[in-house]
Amino acid sequence: MNRETPPQHDVAAADDAAGHVRIFDTTLRDGEQAPGFSMDRRAKLRMAQALEALGVDVLEAGFPQASPDDFAAVAEIARTLKTTTVCGLARCQRGDIESAGRALEEAHRSRIHVFLSTSPLHREHKLRMSKQQVIDTAVTGVELARGLCHEVEFSAEDALRTEPEFLVEVFSAAVAAGATTLNAPDTVGYTTPAEIAELFAYLRRHVAGADKVVFSSHCHDDLGLAVANSLAAVGAGARQVECTINGIGERAGNAALEEIVMALKVRGAYFNADTRIDTRKLYPTSRLLTQLTGQAVPRNKAIVGENAFAHESGIHQHGMLKHRGTYEIMRPQDVGIGETRLVLGKHSGRAALRARLETLGHTPDETAMDGIFARFKALADKKREVHDEDLEALALGLDPEATGPWRIVQLTTNTHLGGASASVALAHADGREAAEAALGDGPVDAVLRAIERATGHPLELTDFNVRAMSAGGDAQGQARLAVQHDGRSWNGHAASTDIVEATAQAALAIVNRIERQTPAAGASPRDTQPFETQGASA
Ligand code: KIV
Ligand code: ZN
Repeated sequence: MNRETPPQHDVAAADDAAGHVRIFDTTLRDGEQAPGFSMDRRAKLRMAQALEALGVDVLEAGFPQASPDDFAAVAEIARTLKTTTVCGLARCQRGDIESAGRALEEAHRSRIHVFLSTSPLHREHKLRMSKQQVIDTAVTGVELARGLCHEVEFSAEDALRTEPEFLVEVFSAAVAAGATTLNAPDTVGYTTPAEIAELFAYLRRHVAGADKVVFSSHCHDDLGLAVANSLAAVGAGARQVECTINGIGERAGNAALEEIVMALKVRGAYFNADTRIDTRKLYPTSRLLTQLTGQAVPRNKAIVGENAFAHESGIHQHGMLKHRGTYEIMRPQDVGIGETRLVLGKHSGRAALRARLETLGHTPDETAMDGIFARFKALADKKREVHDEDLEALALGLDPEATGPWRIVQLTTNTHLGGASASVALAHADGREAAEAALGDGPVDAVLRAIERATGHPLELTDFNVRAMSAGGDAQGQARLAVQHDGRSWNGHAASTDIVEATAQAALAIVNRIERQTPAAGASPRDTQPFETQGASA
């Protein structure tokens, strides 16, 4: 531990004057402990590095006493991070606190987060402690932690259901014992914005030494109010917010980091506060978490959901094309999303269709546009979403619903440790048949290689995405592929209950469009032998 590091409250005073709200990320502790979100050590380290790059001020890396693995993960993160304060959770118990101290030994800056319940319900039924015992236990815990790290945070668990006068007593004692951050968690997601604001204002007025410490909020989302409550706490003077990426956490989750950060950025003048987060990394960090845990965010999730910057209604699209401020309060680029998506479907209008066609390189005159628009509307009535490849076909006067010339006759894949193999048998409308097998890093790669060999069209994969379109055991998955072919980018979509089949159909849809739009391309496919499997190759 580097004891030259300045005490936390000196830093706090300067920062508070500048309206800086510290972001305390607990994705790897409160978030990771929720069912379905556990991560192994490698995943945790990866996430911790992404959170440091995002610019979180404090990263709660875990609960070292919970398990040897948790201890090792906290120690590894503490050793690795260079600028972020690394924090370990501990109950007010000697074993927990010493364990946290050891796990954080190599941190550039360390914090032990000691917590103890304070509400009457918890005192009586969980702790079986009197008020005085709670105060004494908190003081002993903070004092012990103070000698083992750079800074100590004290949390009064279930603070929002604690008598405010008693909370003042506990917090005042914790400050005297050496705590520099006081956290008042809404452990069960029970409070409301007005109520939490009142509590924070009261605490700041009455806690002895309030001017030397940072007040922190930690809100759960049981009533869907975690973000609103956290912001209300900031409005009442909280200068640390505890939150998680994608709002993951116990039960309904914690306040979502990306929502707090963007609310403070977009409404900075209202809150007179901001954070140090590099907001352009919000979306990539959210994506990383979904990849590491396998848990996707809802499509309509604020800031990072697929629809957060997508518009389908004709009225909205028209407004957006005139001035983006009409229907967007922030730019997708500010949160790390490439661009606004005008989703073309049955609600879309002519202006949006023309804008998209122009992006795709087509500038039809008004007469041609009449025909394209009419055919677009007919297609949109049948399909949920009209994709770029459909629009290109419409613009070229081709039938977007045309299939072939290639179709899949048979598809087999085998997955094994370290890779996969696939074999496909294809039939062409002109009577040719082709069969190929290939090896790949996984089934998707192997299928693509086999289709490439069978059709003779090289497909360089640039993007691949699978998403569930419905729920349940027979859920449909949609595969989207983007490939480079002959210096051009091509997209393909297909849906199936089997995602490998959906991938194969999407790849074949691309090959078919290449052949339909550039007829010469189909003249000499690589294999014209009837269903004779060639040797597999990687
Ligand atoms: O919700 C809660 O009270 C907690 C504490 C450990 C801070 O997570
Ligand atoms: Zn919590």
